[in-house]
Amino acid sequence: MTKPYVIIVSAATIDGRIASKTGYSRLSCPFDLRRLHEVRASVDAIIVGANTIINDDPSLTPRYVKANKNPIRVVIDGRLRIPLTARIVVNKEAPTIIVTTESAPIDKVMALKNNGVDVWIIGKDRVNLRETLERLYEEKGVRRVLVEGGGHLNWELIKEGLVDEIRLTISPYVFGAGTSFIEGEGYPTTIEGPKLRLKSANICECGQEVILNYVIENRSLQDH
Ligand SMILES: NC(=O)c1ccc[n+]([C@@H]2O[C@H](COP(=O)([O-])OP(=O)(O)OC[C@H]3O[C@@H](n4cnc5c(N)ncnc54)[C@H](OP(=O)(O)O)[C@@H]3O)[C@@H](O)[C@H]2O)c1
Repeated sequence: MTKPYVIIVSAATIDGRIASKTGYSRLSCPFDLRRLHEVRASVDAIIVGANTIINDDPSLTPRYVKANKNPIRVVIDGRLRIPLTARIVVNKEAPTIIVTTESAPIDKVMALKNNGVDVWIIGKDRVNLRETLERLYEEKGVRRVLVEGGGHLNWELIKEGLVDEIRLTISPYVFGAGTSFIEGEGYPTTIEGPKLRLKSANICECGQEVILNYVIENRSLQDH
């Protein structure tokens, strides 16, 4: 089966945190935000984890740049914890798909559907992320995906070997605790993890941030 090309874009402190211990996550300068919106405008779908919706309530639209169309917004939410008042539910600027599991409460599934949101059930207890990407490819014609976190979703996608590229902005802050860019059970050594190749390293126009662009090498070509 074929899956879309997957790019993770994130901004982290120099200690690799994308959010502080209180959930504060505004780490990008205006140039970096614009860069993010350029990527949003270039993809067919944007994927985020449930906590990112609950904590940040993003619109996930490319509103800082001129875009021909708004990408599909996809939320991975195994237990359907996102509120019905979330911007991605309420505002209809782009289609929204919530991907959940058989363990999700049926009344919440119905409530989301009644609010014009598509709900996909892919998995028993956990969402099968490969199947989700394949279905987006087959049914929705999605060829490029932007993943906007958070750390737990990033880890699951990396662990499953589903990520092709990472664009990480390092911002001049330290949190010392909080959510890591990639947050999971972890690898014991460098051998078990993915092989990254540095494509570029640039200093932001603001002069204070570094933008790192890595591609992940161990993807099989037939995956694309
Ligand atoms: N600085 C940045 O660029 C940036 C970008 C994005 C987000 N953030 C920050 O990151 C924080 C959120 O990160 P996070 O790691 O806590 O959360 P997250 O990755 O946004 O969401 C994690 C949750 O999504 C659900 N999920 C993920 N994969 C799943 C799967 N395969 N099956 C079923 N459910 C799945 C799980 O919900 P259940 O636990 O209910 O199963 C999981 O707890 C926020 O504070 C946000 O501000 C920062």
